[in-house]
Amino acid sequence: MTTASLEFLNKLPKAELHLHIEGSLEPELLFELSKRNQIDIPFKSVEEVRAAYKFHNLQSFLDIYYQGASVLIHEQDFYDLTMAYLKRCQEDHVVHTEIFFDPQTHTERGIAMKTVIEGISRALKDAEQEWGITSQLILCFLRHLSEEAAIETLEQAKPYLEYIKGVGLDSSELGHPPSKFTNVFKSAKALGLELVAHAGEEGPADYIYEALDILNVSRIDHGVRCIDDDNLVARLIEEQIPLTVCPLSNTALCVYDDMAKHPILSLLEKGVCVTVNADDPAYFGGYMNENFMSLVTSLNLTEAQAKKLAINSFNASFIDDALKQKYIASVEAL
Ligand code: HPA
Ligand code: ZN
Repeated sequence: MTTASLEFLNKLPKAELHLHIEGSLEPELLFELSKRNQIDIPFKSVEEVRAAYKFHNLQSFLDIYYQGASVLIHEQDFYDLTMAYLKRCQEDHVVHTEIFFDPQTHTERGIAMKTVIEGISRALKDAEQEWGITSQLILCFLRHLSEEAAIETLEQAKPYLEYIKGVGLDSSELGHPPSKFTNVFKSAKALGLELVAHAGEEGPADYIYEALDILNVSRIDHGVRCIDDDNLVARLIEEQIPLTVCPLSNTALCVYDDMAKHPILSLLEKGVCVTVNADDPAYFGGYMNENFMSLVTSLNLTEAQAKKLAINSFNASFIDDALKQKYIASVEAL
């Protein structure tokens, strides 16, 4: 069994399916935008920002993450943010990405839905032309806000549905179960959108059942708490329901205190369709290949396991079958 090397991972084509674009805002760009838009941030230097990125749970991260997003004002800001992430995709050989965005974080500050979607989408188009990276956009509802607010957000997105592949659910999980959003997910489904939801990150395995059985999602974001319920793991294997797992996020937010205890590879070996993703790379210490490397260092990830994770990422994606098969063949050819 050959342990995967960085050189091998750099050649491995991959899809990223769990990436919050606001979570790719690096401290350098945060500072540049705070100056450009004259928005005060409570930090004096890039070093001070990085020092503040010490989290003890999901909420302690979200408080800083929403504050960071306040420097995003103009269409060009969303373009620059997205382009910086896509450049990292190109470097890490991420050939397809399905990007989350949180419109409510922006519309609540008076930024138009149009500004957000057009800025992100223009970068996606340019990156496809320049590097051949394919992509899709997933609109996330903030679960700490009401379902009425989510319904209003879906309404505001209706003129831009050509840019949006699906909807998701993120933000503070505990106390905000998937069932709170039953109606808005039903409406999204009726619009032909794909459905995903964060579940079982900090919340219990029950939230994963709710996401599957009440929201009817086809993919679970995080989902690592499934390990508490053998019947659930058996179902995930049987139905090949993908989990978009985020290793460095899970250790940064203390879901696991040590990467050596992370269950991703034991789930992989059991036959669960797990994938590797960065979640919020600017905050959690790394992009796609740094997440893979953390599995090499702590769990001795092999080349065969890395290839399986990459194949899973394409199988779990929302791309059409022909392109999916083309990407999978390029992994198998390695
Ligand atoms: N969980 C919930 N909400 C989020 C996350 C996450 O990992 N990242 C950005 N918003
Ligand atoms: Zn996430």
